[in-house]
Amino acid sequence: MIVRDVPALRAAIARALEAARHVGHGGGETATESPSVGFVPTMGALHEGHRTLVQRSCAENAVTVVSIFVNPTQFNNPDDLARYPRDEARDVAMLNEAGVHIVFAPTPDVMYPPGFNTWVTVDGVTDVLEGEFRPGHFRGVATVVARLLRAVRCDRAYFGEKDWQQLLVVRQLTRDLLLDIEIVGVPTVREADGLALSSRNARLDSTARTAALAISAAIRHVQESFAGGFTQTDDLEQRLHASLRREPALTVEYAVIVDAETLRPVKRLTSPARVLVAATVGGVRLIDNGPVGSIQ
Ligand code: PAF
Repeated sequence: MIVRDVPALRAAIARALEAARHVGHGGGETATESPSVGFVPTMGALHEGHRTLVQRSCAENAVTVVSIFVNPTQFNNPDDLARYPRDEARDVAMLNEAGVHIVFAPTPDVMYPPGFNTWVTVDGVTDVLEGEFRPGHFRGVATVVARLLRAVRCDRAYFGEKDWQQLLVVRQLTRDLLLDIEIVGVPTVREADGLALSSRNARLDSTARTAALAISAAIRHVQESFAGGFTQTDDLEQRLHASLRREPALTVEYAVIVDAETLRPVKRLTSPARVLVAATVGGVRLIDNGPVGSIQ
């Protein structure tokens, strides 16, 4: 079922919870627990990565809500917003097939009604990387996510690890605003050749797609180097950059190895760290990341 405003959303969730109470919960919950609501926020153009988030939510909750909203306030580049792929009918068909109970597809004036004037800014973790290269991006993300989480009033919300920094931002705001929601990070889904799934991949032509493989290959190269005994971040970052340089079609914005939680530089990999890369290829900006340093 598709709903387009918050009263209709909340009424649909109440009905779905009532139905779940009558038929037993499903979602792996025991009969003594009250049925839970899982939520997957998206900007549409759904792919297998989203399907994985949805499957996880459906397995862990009695009711799953997915939102589709291309949030204008998180795009710092108007062209990027204009070219963002949109296909609501296809997305809704996929979500119905995946067993989603409610699709929340609000119009911009539902998310930002006249007079809307409250913005959520998360400090610290947003100072670097995407925060530096996309000014205002995380203000838009944090504001829309806070509003969506309050609209749905879910028990758990599911976010892909592909947007690692976004996941940290959402965890921070959920803690700081006492939202009492479990934020579940779900590992990145990749094509067989390593390309991380992203709605933006639809804009890669075959030459750009081949060049884009250098990003995941460089991250793997760091992980293998660490496994082979390299633990100094300087050495590993040199290997990361050398690997990326082998693909001339890539324009790298950043390629770093940093603490997995604070995103601050680390000298030696003695605790969980993350390799994070942002690069443009064929006019498409891609990000990817992977764990290094210990099991995460
Ligand atoms: O990751 C995304 O698709 C978006 O940033 C999100 C979380 C749906 C907020 O607009």
